[in-house]
Amino acid sequence: MLYLLIFVALLILFVGFFIWTAIAGRRHQRRRHVLRAWVTVTIFVATVLYAEGLRYLYSFNKDAQTIHLPFAITSGVIFLVLVLLGWKLQSGNRFRVWHRAAVITFAVMLIPTTITGILLITTAAPR
Ligand code: HEM
Repeated sequence: MLYLLIFVALLILFVGFFIWTAIAGRRHQRRRHVLRAWVTVTIFVATVLYAEGLRYLYSFNKDAQTIHLPFAITSGVIFLVLVLLGWKLQSGNRFRVWHRAAVITFAVMLIPTTITGILLITTAAPR
């Protein structure tokens, strides 16, 4: 139960930092933005690793897993693209529109990923 609570806390922390990072980006506060972005990336990696650990504590419903995984994988790939585009944006403004589009796409993808993730956890059985 504690493990699950820490996982939920990490998720909330990630969303908070993601929004805080986006605010600095929109305000053109570049140094502040990039600093917050790397903290966000670190929290993201910790959250994914923690999610992997849930497999050892819970046995997931196969159908719920089949529904959740494509959303989770797509979100992960978009996040990686978002970070790479942010990296490129540091040396060329032409990546701005793509970085922004990746941020919006990722934010939208978080909705089905979270909903299907809740379905996965609520139908899981402790091992
Ligand atoms: C981690 C999640 C991230 C979010 C949510 C995010 C969000 C944003 C947003 C909303 C903007 C404003 C774009 C616009 O003009 O509309 C922006 C700009 C920018 N981002 Fe990111 N970003 C992230 C990660 C990164 C990373 C990892 C880097 C670099 C390594 C980066 C570099 C930049 C740069 C250089 C700008 C331009 C800032 C300026 O105008 O001076 N971003 N970002």
